[in-house]
Amino acid sequence: MKEPARRVAVLGAQWGDEGKGKVIAHLAWKGFDWVVRYAGGPNAGHTVYHRGKKFVHHLLPSIDPDSTARGYLGSGMVLDLDTLLREVEALEADFPGVAKRFHVDRDAFLILPWHRHEDELLESRRRRPIGTTRRGIGPAYTDKISRQGLRVGDLWRDDVVERLDDLLHFKQELYREEFPGSAEETIRPLLDRIRRLEERGVVFTSFMEQRRLFHDASLLFEGAQGFLLDVECGTYPFVTSSNCGLGAIVSSGFVDRPIGRVYGISKAYATRVGGGPFPTEVSDALGEEIRQRGGEFGATTGRPRRIGWLDLPALRYAIARGGITHLILTKQDVLAGLPSVKVCVAYRVRGEEHRDLAATGDFDIAEPVYREMPGWGDRRDPRFLEYLELVERETGVPIELVSFGPGTGEICERDALVAGARTKMGPS
Ligand code: IMP
Repeated sequence: MKEPARRVAVLGAQWGDEGKGKVIAHLAWKGFDWVVRYAGGPNAGHTVYHRGKKFVHHLLPSIDPDSTARGYLGSGMVLDLDTLLREVEALEADFPGVAKRFHVDRDAFLILPWHRHEDELLESRRRRPIGTTRRGIGPAYTDKISRQGLRVGDLWRDDVVERLDDLLHFKQELYREEFPGSAEETIRPLLDRIRRLEERGVVFTSFMEQRRLFHDASLLFEGAQGFLLDVECGTYPFVTSSNCGLGAIVSSGFVDRPIGRVYGISKAYATRVGGGPFPTEVSDALGEEIRQRGGEFGATTGRPRRIGWLDLPALRYAIARGGITHLILTKQDVLAGLPSVKVCVAYRVRGEEHRDLAATGDFDIAEPVYREMPGWGDRRDPRFLEYLELVERETGVPIELVSFGPGTGEICERDALVAGARTKMGPS
């Protein structure tokens, strides 16, 4: 008999790049019918290995093509149709027929060709650049909120060229410069991408159809970026332009059932790309060593990621404000072999120690208070288990899974590790 339908969410609990893609592909095997991307756009880069080959999903939900799960691109996303087509074609080349397992919500907004140009323009004019991925994310969400964006479904409307022309006119007035291409020239490739996606089998779905599809289905919500990059709750203004947490799931209408479990994904250390406060940043040779060992270069932009120690006050904040009920710790292997590791347990701000601090507050002047711990060998090393226990004690949230390498199989239950350490046998 089919299990009752479930709603489970996976959020990045740091500044993104926590290894969500791999975790999602792993969890999707556990009886989920759909993996739903609910926010963000091709600023994300979720790396997954399918049959040993590396794929980076920017827009497509991280389903394993060998599972039966289907992928849904929700209305809270901003979509670049070129990227979408490229990704679908890359996956189809190895997994023919997989495209028809992806549905796109017609209410999602489009990243229009000039949004990237605007992203560049805005960054170049900021005194303190945000360090965006320059994929047009901010401008696409800005247009959505300013009530002048274009939705995917608008491409089926008769007045789409007029709408685009209005927007183009407005932008030219605003920036006092010519934007490349007329409305007709802009619309043609967009319609072409839609046609090619449909030919491949991708389905464009309305809310009413979506309701029917999801009626009795179990959904796994795939977060993008990380909670500390959330436009409302993160280290503003050094954030992305979307909500990264549960709010975006609810606001796009996934309200038929409560979300049962909320996994927060955290690395055993921390990284961030782009500007903004990063209290536990390690800028010396050790930081460089961890960057190299962890392959910490942006999956979307190739930029070197900034490296830091695990930041427990930041994690506690993400848990408290993001509603995280369980943790999944990734990249355990990257720190293996270091003589010692540090963990930030509190901050010092203006001479006073604080165990907790909101990321919307004084993160930029917070100095970390560290606890230094002996390093560990492999994942069964009792010193690593002490690390896990410290994280659980300090956050009050259980760790359910530990990922210890990029490979699909390199992930195990936390409890299996503990049992393995006790019997000295270790899990497989
Ligand atoms: P945007 O989302 O391109 O506007 O970039 C805003 C900030 O979010 C920048 O610091 C980016 O580096 C960061 N960012 C956006 N998407 C991701 C992601 O998927 N992983 C990590 N950082 C991201």
